[in-house]
Amino acid sequence: MRLLEVLGIKTDLVMSGDDLVEAILKGMADSGQILEDGDVLVVAESVVATCEGRVVKVSEVDPSPRAVELAQKYCKDPSEMELILKESDRIMGGIPGVVLTLKDGFLYPNAGIDHSNAPPGYVVLFPHDPQASASLIRERLKEETGKVVSVVIGDSRTHPLRLGCVGVALACDGLVPVEDARGQKDLYGKALEVTRKAVADNLVSAAQIVMGEGDESVPAVIIRGAPVKLVESGDLEQVEIPSIAPEECMYIGSLKGGPHPYSGGYDNLIECAKEAMTRSYAPYTQFKVGAALLTRSGKVYSGANVENASSSAVICAERVAIAKALSNGECEFEALAVVGNSPKPVTPCGICRQTLIEFGKDIKVVMANTKGDAEIATVEELLPKGFTGWYREGDLYIEEQS
Ligand code: THU
Repeated sequence: MRLLEVLGIKTDLVMSGDDLVEAILKGMADSGQILEDGDVLVVAESVVATCEGRVVKVSEVDPSPRAVELAQKYCKDPSEMELILKESDRIMGGIPGVVLTLKDGFLYPNAGIDHSNAPPGYVVLFPHDPQASASLIRERLKEETGKVVSVVIGDSRTHPLRLGCVGVALACDGLVPVEDARGQKDLYGKALEVTRKAVADNLVSAAQIVMGEGDESVPAVIIRGAPVKLVESGDLEQVEIPSIAPEECMYIGSLKGGPHPYSGGYDNLIECAKEAMTRSYAPYTQFKVGAALLTRSGKVYSGANVENASSSAVICAERVAIAKALSNGECEFEALAVVGNSPKPVTPCGICRQTLIEFGKDIKVVMANTKGDAEIATVEELLPKGFTGWYREGDLYIEEQS
């Protein structure tokens, strides 16, 4: 049986600008602990960020108009919302008090900005580059002690529909963070198909049992005896923590009934739609709309809305793009982006939804505005139970008849 040791390191209160490695080594010396080769050192991200000076006085942050608008929507402080916008790549949504953000391919509440373990009126941001911090701490420890250890920078997070936090690794160096167990045999000799072991996350969870989240002053934990796969220094590809695309994620991908917050993948298409928008003919409403349609063959056809003194002759941007593609012999579509100079993303009208569903229920529709808000849905999500022809095999009408 393997014995795993989990040893908390108590330190003095660490302040902005302090030398973290020095503080950890002092904490170890005070309690008579010494590092051994092969140890894993889990360090709380908040203490790493504090030492890096990533502490901000919230009242000194000037909120932009967009931050004010989102702060109202999600019941946040506008200055804090400004920090969230600056620190994240995308806002995925939120509930009152918490904004769900995407940052470097991972989901974090409030872009990882934390009030806890920060002086009153201040917040701690995430470390600037957690990967670089992990490598630096590892190197410094080797210099100071001569021992080769792995370093994991850890945070806590919740799982969907579960109360309570578990550990999550932001970055690591010296070990393989996610081990692939596919192909290994289960108890009955069947090959495991999807199992990957989140080794780094599990180490952070183990560390958190002794670390606590409050005033325990245990910002680092030594884990001794863990069967981790070691990685040579400098092999950054092997220590990178892998992420999966939102649509491949069980939680995000299965939340049907879009629109969903757009999380990337069609930025070029949105740009094409924006460009087409500049050619809109909208002298009656001044509402400029642009659309861009991506074919399965990889071509993009764009269009803008065309208005008319006789209002029933108005053609929406989406249908202009669709007609352009069809008249060039293309009828297999992957995605359509539509952009307007509107406060909220433009959503295609019923006629455009009907026109598009003719060519596939799964075509993705990216709805955006020029401010950068964007949502995504399939045509079917926008037009549930849409009519796609009475004569087609498998069609709703025929199924209901039989
Ligand atoms: N419009 C579009 O081009 N696409 C949409 O999805 C919504 C509406 C245009 C048509 C018209 O020129 C103007 O917006 C106002 O209805």
